[in-house]
Amino acid sequence: MTAILAPDTQGVAEAAALIRGGGLVAFGTETVYGLGADAGSTAAIARLYAAKGRPAHNPLISHFADAESAFAEVDANPAARALAAAFWPGPLTLVLPVRDGGGICAAARAGLPSAAVRVPRGDVLAGLLRACGRPVAAPSANRSGHVSPTQAAHVLADLHGRIDAVLDTGPCAVGVESTVLDLCGRPRLLRPGGISLAAISEVIGPIEGGLSEGASDTDAPGDGVLRAPGMMASHYAPSLPLRLGARDVAAEEALLGFGPDAPAAALALNLSPAGDLDEAAHNLFAYLRAIDERALAAGKSCIAVWPIPHTGIGLAINDRLRRAAAPRPGGR
Ligand code: TXA
Ligand code: MG
Repeated sequence: MTAILAPDTQGVAEAAALIRGGGLVAFGTETVYGLGADAGSTAAIARLYAAKGRPAHNPLISHFADAESAFAEVDANPAARALAAAFWPGPLTLVLPVRDGGGICAAARAGLPSAAVRVPRGDVLAGLLRACGRPVAAPSANRSGHVSPTQAAHVLADLHGRIDAVLDTGPCAVGVESTVLDLCGRPRLLRPGGISLAAISEVIGPIEGGLSEGASDTDAPGDGVLRAPGMMASHYAPSLPLRLGARDVAAEEALLGFGPDAPAAALALNLSPAGDLDEAAHNLFAYLRAIDERALAAGKSCIAVWPIPHTGIGLAINDRLRRAAAPRPGGR
């Protein structure tokens, strides 16, 4: 049984009690819904990997109410402190060396000597994390390989009966996951996300993996983004295949459009008719789910996706679309 909790004092208290007791609770962040568990409990982390069907070599992000509690677990350097001051709370994850005797268990780090930490935005979530009083590991609250959830209903569609509760904090504002930056050595981009490279570079200067902004999106996988461990080519997958960069729509296709020049066909959704990338990111995963369902019901065999500009949060959108379109192990 999966309980649905309201984002009020009682709901937050119940969610915190479940997490402290080793349970699994999904909650909204500003990016996507996360599936939270006590990052210090090997048993809770094992349950979390099992519920998602996530490979054990893919490490988790630990979430904190503030930078001070995050930096109690990892060794912050000046770049980390500057980025935390600029972007936390917000959609930026920092990978840093773990401190000895810290509260993030080896299983949550996939055995690595580093840990990914972030301080998400939102008062309800900050209250929950404070009430937990420990690092809370939270991968996106979907079955491994599926489309990430940006609404409580998406979480239930994937994980109902497999987790203890969902704290329904409403739709997620940003809509794509956090930017993941490795700061263990020279700064390296591991995953484009909610904070743009340009914004990061303004704080700490140019970074590796930062060459792709504004560049063509057709030269993947040599797009300059270094992959985090466990990140798979095929991910975020709807059931129908995607055709990226489409400038037309065939009879057997539905359309996921972007901008004013995408056709408004009967079986089309437009991520942002005005061509606004933030709006497109916000709608991305919900529209990907919806167009997949509608296209399947209408007997279509493919989803054409209009080109998305490769700049700012467009890098994150194109990264997710590319992995949604990638061939899957074992076929469809
Ligand atoms: O926006 C987000 O980041 C969401 C919300 C729920 O916070 N979470 C999320 O988690 O996207 P997940 O598990 O889907 O992605 C975590 C990413 C993976 O690509 C993983 O490889 C990387 O972070 N990661 C975690 N720990 C790492 C480490 N020690 N070194 C390198 N990469 C790491
Ligand atoms: Mg994920």
